[in-house]
Amino acid sequence: MFQGRSFVKEIDFTPEELEYMIDFGIHLKKLKKKGIPHEYLKGQNICLLFEKTSTRTRAAFTVAANDLGAAPEFMGANDIQLGKKESVEDTAIVLGSMFDGIEFRGFSQEMVESLAKHSNVPVWNGLTDEWHPTQMIADFMTIKEKFGNLKGRKLVYCGDGRNNMANSLLITGTMLGVNVTIASPKSLFPEKEVIERAEAFGKQSGAKPVITEDIKSAVVNADVLYTDVWVSMGEEDKFEERVKLLKPYQINKELTDLVKGDYMILHCLPAFHDTETLYGKNIEEKFGIKEMEITDEVFRSEQAHQFEQAENRMHSIKAIMALTNGNLFIPKV
Ligand code: CP
Ligand code: NVA
Repeated sequence: MFQGRSFVKEIDFTPEELEYMIDFGIHLKKLKKKGIPHEYLKGQNICLLFEKTSTRTRAAFTVAANDLGAAPEFMGANDIQLGKKESVEDTAIVLGSMFDGIEFRGFSQEMVESLAKHSNVPVWNGLTDEWHPTQMIADFMTIKEKFGNLKGRKLVYCGDGRNNMANSLLITGTMLGVNVTIASPKSLFPEKEVIERAEAFGKQSGAKPVITEDIKSAVVNADVLYTDVWVSMGEEDKFEERVKLLKPYQINKELTDLVKGDYMILHCLPAFHDTETLYGKNIEEKFGIKEMEITDEVFRSEQAHQFEQAENRMHSIKAIMALTNGNLFIPKV
């Protein structure tokens, strides 16, 4: 029932199917750690199309494909004709005739949907401006590994409330029964349609999505504090306004002191928690701040699980590819 399907946005699958992907990721992680082979895609070829840069997603798809017995092939923005000399439709037909599955990371959600429509093979969205669905399976897998369950948990996302990560967390969390709060300035609240969709899922799952400017009240009783960069790929001209707007939404010690009980911190990465990057140095020179969305102290605290989360990208992407392309026998989900 997963076989042959694309994963271009979270709502392509039911909440039960998403949770099955998460559980299958946990299972595949155990197989990997025990050295038990799991070559569900033996003999396949997987195309990795990247218009935007990546470390985790590219590494995860590559290693996952290899572990599954498939051969991955990376194609960067400047390597192929797509967009410049050839339409998405024509590219999709050609790639689909040679490859067994296609990963796409880029700007436009329409492009990934068009690839899925015309290629005749499963297409997996490795991030667009709107959604980051493969990241979701890793994130909720990491939360389930820590707490043993998802339903009724509270996740508070602090920062840019209308980027791909905020959209995906709000929708996926609410589908899975997680109470997601988006804490961000009003001007960066999620789009109305995204909020309405989350509210509709909340009616089915029992979760209560909340959108608020009041970060201090929001974080109380959180199980998960989540943040992402203040400026996403493709918006690099917006640093000045975002630094001003989002400084009060930084995850720092003062904020984590307000959270009561056991909690974890997640970040999809890459993170600006010091000045060890080109952007980090520029921002320090221009605005006098050494840390952006998360302080170095909190990033290195025992509650921070971002590196397990990053590793889980590989196990969860493996689950997604195996389920949608591995001809597995799956009893009714
Ligand atoms: N989290 C994530 O998608 O990381 P990359 O941009 O490195 O792939
Ligand atoms: N919002 C970030 C996520 C990176 C994984 C971006 O799009 O750049």
